[in-house]
Amino acid sequence: MYADLECILLTEEELKAGIRRLGETITRDYAGKEPLLVCTLKGAVNFFADLIREIDLPLAVDFIAASSYKGTESTGKVNIRKDVDADIAGRDVLIVEDIIDTGITLNNLKTELLKRKPASLKIVTLLDKPGGRQSDLEPDYACFTIPDGFVVGYGLDYNEKYRNLPDIGILARHIYEKEN
Ligand code: IMP
Ligand code: MG
Repeated sequence: MYADLECILLTEEELKAGIRRLGETITRDYAGKEPLLVCTLKGAVNFFADLIREIDLPLAVDFIAASSYKGTESTGKVNIRKDVDADIAGRDVLIVEDIIDTGITLNNLKTELLKRKPASLKIVTLLDKPGGRQSDLEPDYACFTIPDGFVVGYGLDYNEKYRNLPDIGILARHIYEKEN
């Protein structure tokens, strides 16, 4: 699979170190609280599993799968394909995302979840790609800021492949030009 990468952007060791620092920050910021960490499926799964182990708090976990309705982004509609099990009213919620590119889906999801009156709602992302932004959404916590380019590995996919790579790399252009 590594042959399909143009280069490695973040190694397993760099990811681990960054996630440890983020875990410490969240532990400090949420001291005395019992936050609910919500993993966005499927890309954030690897990050989520590692992040929760770096947070020293009595937290709870949940999972959500959402996408934007194609062609109707301007209407702000989000399609929740799998909702959280928990009632988030009054909870300190942290949405854990793999990458924020345009920010459109997450912005719509945030609006939807705020209607349920959580005590607080913050966005945590492993990767922030500010060059792609097409919405007002900004993460409250971002582990790494990366340049434009399509990245895969550590949960992130291209056509469902590469999620199991331990590192994150930039996918070689010929891979997606060949398939499209
Ligand atoms: P958005 O453009 O911020 O709404 O991103 C929505 C989703 O697209 C992310 O949660 C990822 O699952 C996916 N995505 C965006 N950029 C990349 C990338 O570079 N590699 C893999 N998936 C991506
Ligand atoms: Mg995602």
